[in-house]
Amino acid sequence: MHIFQEIRPLKAFLEQIRKGSGTIGFVPTMGALHPGHISLIQASQKDNHKTICSIYVNPAQFNNAADLAKYPRTLERDLELLRQQGCDAVFCPSNAEMYATDSILKFDFGYLNTEMEGRYRPGHFSGVALVVSKLFNIVQPDVAYFGQKDFQQFKIIERLVSELKFEIALKCMPIVRESDGLAMSSRNARLSKENRTKAAQLYQALLFAKEGLSKNKSMADIRSQVESQFNSVGGIQLEYLELVDSTNLLPLENVGDKSILLIAAYVGEVRLIDNLLLT
Ligand code: PAF
Repeated sequence: MHIFQEIRPLKAFLEQIRKGSGTIGFVPTMGALHPGHISLIQASQKDNHKTICSIYVNPAQFNNAADLAKYPRTLERDLELLRQQGCDAVFCPSNAEMYATDSILKFDFGYLNTEMEGRYRPGHFSGVALVVSKLFNIVQPDVAYFGQKDFQQFKIIERLVSELKFEIALKCMPIVRESDGLAMSSRNARLSKENRTKAAQLYQALLFAKEGLSKNKSMADIRSQVESQFNSVGGIQLEYLELVDSTNLLPLENVGDKSILLIAAYVGEVRLIDNLLLT
């Protein structure tokens, strides 16, 4: 497996692949890899001649310095996992390589970034769009793979690709869950044993909301019942539970053709997100 820390040699390597008419699949990550990431690597390997993974904890997408400092970093273990998977190359740049000059560029995706994650993490999606644009320009993959767990992020990246005319196909791969339903996330590693058990409540809340909607309960009622449930378990703080149209993220009152439920909550000090497509 080739490991690149600098842009120039990575580009030369990719150029050779393109010259041989090979397709390039790209899996951008922030490391602390788990089976959800591995499912993206495997999807890329199935579709493409070569698979490139990036591991970079992007400071620009953290609106909270403590969250950035505590983000799990397990580079050696990640590289070993990627080696075992037969990933062709990894790009793990330094901050100086990615942000050689201070960035003043900001992205605004209108409604897509003012609600849900955007409301609770101002500036987050601007930072995601900035680093994903840089990575797409560097790697120029044929296909890029993202996890459905970060559904709002995927919608933002779809918009970025379509407005900036990146010639990259995007694939949103299903959420990989633990046996109790908890969506796999790098942040799960930060949960205490007790909070790890409690964290399955997010998925339970999504199932409860789905069931409630099928019985014509309002989202307001569902939300307050979920809040009561979280309070009775203790240590879980709901940020949002929304029913939206999965094509444009606009809020819905009732389940439509392409609806999705999205949730965010703090379990202890760890902020988790999850979602459930209803169609
Ligand atoms: O989803 C992630 O891990 C990150 O937001 C991404 C897309 C790698 C950009 O830093």
